[in-house]
Amino acid sequence: MTPEPASRPWQGAPDDHSFARPEQVRSTHLELVLDLDFDARVATGHVVHHLERSDRNAPLVLDTDGLAIQSVTDQRGEPLHYTMGERDEKWLGRAMTIDLAPESTRVRVDYATSPTAEAMQWLAPEQTHGKLQPFLFTQGQAILTRTWIPLQDSPAVRVTWKAKIRAPRHLRTVMSADHRDVRDDVTVFSMTRPVPSYLIALACGDLAARPVSGRCAVWAEPSLVDEATAELEDLERMVVACEELFGPYRWGRYDVLFLPPSFPFGGMENPCMTFATPTILAGDKSLVALIAHELAHSWSGNLVTNATWRDFWLNEGFTVYLEQRIMEHVYGQDRAAMEIALGMQGLQQELRTLPEPDQVLHIDLTGRNPDDGMTAVAYDKGAAFLRRLEQAFGRAEMDRFLRLWFEQHSFQSVTTKTFLDFLQREMLSRNPAAAAAVDVTRWVEQAGLPGDASVPQSARFAAVDGAVAAFSAGASAVDLDTDGWVTQQWLRFLSQLESPSLDQLQQLDEAFALTRSSNSEVLCAWLVLATQRGLRAVDARAELFLLTVGRRKFLVPLYEAILSTEAGQERALDIYRRARRRYHAVSQRTLDALLDWEGLDAVPADDEPRKR
Ligand code: BES
Ligand code: ZN
Repeated sequence: MTPEPASRPWQGAPDDHSFARPEQVRSTHLELVLDLDFDARVATGHVVHHLERSDRNAPLVLDTDGLAIQSVTDQRGEPLHYTMGERDEKWLGRAMTIDLAPESTRVRVDYATSPTAEAMQWLAPEQTHGKLQPFLFTQGQAILTRTWIPLQDSPAVRVTWKAKIRAPRHLRTVMSADHRDVRDDVTVFSMTRPVPSYLIALACGDLAARPVSGRCAVWAEPSLVDEATAELEDLERMVVACEELFGPYRWGRYDVLFLPPSFPFGGMENPCMTFATPTILAGDKSLVALIAHELAHSWSGNLVTNATWRDFWLNEGFTVYLEQRIMEHVYGQDRAAMEIALGMQGLQQELRTLPEPDQVLHIDLTGRNPDDGMTAVAYDKGAAFLRRLEQAFGRAEMDRFLRLWFEQHSFQSVTTKTFLDFLQREMLSRNPAAAAAVDVTRWVEQAGLPGDASVPQSARFAAVDGAVAAFSAGASAVDLDTDGWVTQQWLRFLSQLESPSLDQLQQLDEAFALTRSSNSEVLCAWLVLATQRGLRAVDARAELFLLTVGRRKFLVPLYEAILSTEAGQERALDIYRRARRRYHAVSQRTLDALLDWEGLDAVPADDEPRKR
């Protein structure tokens, strides 16, 4: 076993999404103790910070948002004076400045969360698969951990941590930890590897686990767990592929937890336990690239972390590139080529809508929500850049470079500059001829997609494009040769149709039962297309989808499609009015803006997060 990594001195960059001053006083370890109250929807307890004090005169500054602070003491039980800063009216919350005594080495903050804490989604039993028990999960990335733990909420600060969580006896609690021990109604966790705050996560509900291998298991509600385990039968193979490609897996176990469908993301790479949407359970493993992606974060993101949210592309661009390599390794070149091509299509589409400053990998997010950087630029342009390097320098050299990058920066938080220096030293300067062919500054610091970006050819996509051409030229749907088409081919088909007529759409639905698709990606793409073109026969299915799924990536295009139709504004709002309270705060925030929700005199239900 790899020895536990030692905590390093703070070496990050200034982070304007955190009030913390880790260069002065830094937490290195947390002890978290919380009671979960599902009726009140609050967590109550305390956190103890172990401190490294580089500046003996400086206070400890924590990030908080919406927390009710009860008391602050140090390791001697002495109360410490503290002040709460003005609440940032956008998203940073409030700085909590704690004056330390000369002797203070540890600080304990007693507090309670708010029922509207944005990181926490408390679900009613009806929102779960089993419909009998409530459910809670947290989502910290990017800057929401401060809504459930007062801490230095910057990705440049890494901590080890322990937690004791009390929850109703009939529920099971899990965390992004490398040890877990159940003692009656308290579950004790520890994370012995230093992690950034956004990777501290918790879930609690009616959960069961099934082993997939010695180090991998699938967690889900009992009524879903067998189906979920079957879908992920290749999980261990994926981890083995990663180790072959990128170096040892450094986190012990790798489990996947399937959350209820309100989870606002596809997946979240919480260490040791990826949190995932159940919408990837297609029954045929066709959507498991998402798991490859979250697993890849165990290297890019969790071992080597963006120091600030400007450097997010280092997390996600690397991860998409790694994901594509895993898919190729486990499922073959053509599958990987199809997924890459779909990603590039999405990127090109999104680039048409993004202002130029947002098309830059090293994006300037000063004064903005880090969420604004969560576009295809960080993901697919980032991956395209790494593919370009691979193409110029060769795969063997790329693999050597990647392994070295992870090995030399493991358990560190890095900036784009760190990467560029390393790239210069370990790749560019070793092969000047290849280096001359890649304009690194153009890729990293400028808008748009450089002309040397490439999209791999796929034989199966060529077949689809043939069918699209035939269909556009008047062939009927039933005559199309779609035998053996896989999910990615259907997604390609739907995305390539140009202005299909209502009659053509009806034919497609009759021939292929798309409105009844059990594949969430195909279904969503179909509902968006059909809605845009005014095929009212899909309305009921679209509405049901919006009322049951909370994954933002699906909600946004579907609401946009409705908005683009006649009387769409009214219809979208009518659905949103009923659906909103079932969505996580992350999705609510995006949709509130899209649908001008603020302009409405809505009476929020008790369980609705406050407007921000
Ligand atoms: N870490 C991200 C999710 C995230 C990013 C949450 C920024 C909050 C802020 C995760 O790894 C991710 O990228 N998920 C994608 C899926 C992936 C296959 C592209 C998602 O949820 O859509
Ligand atoms: Zn990711």
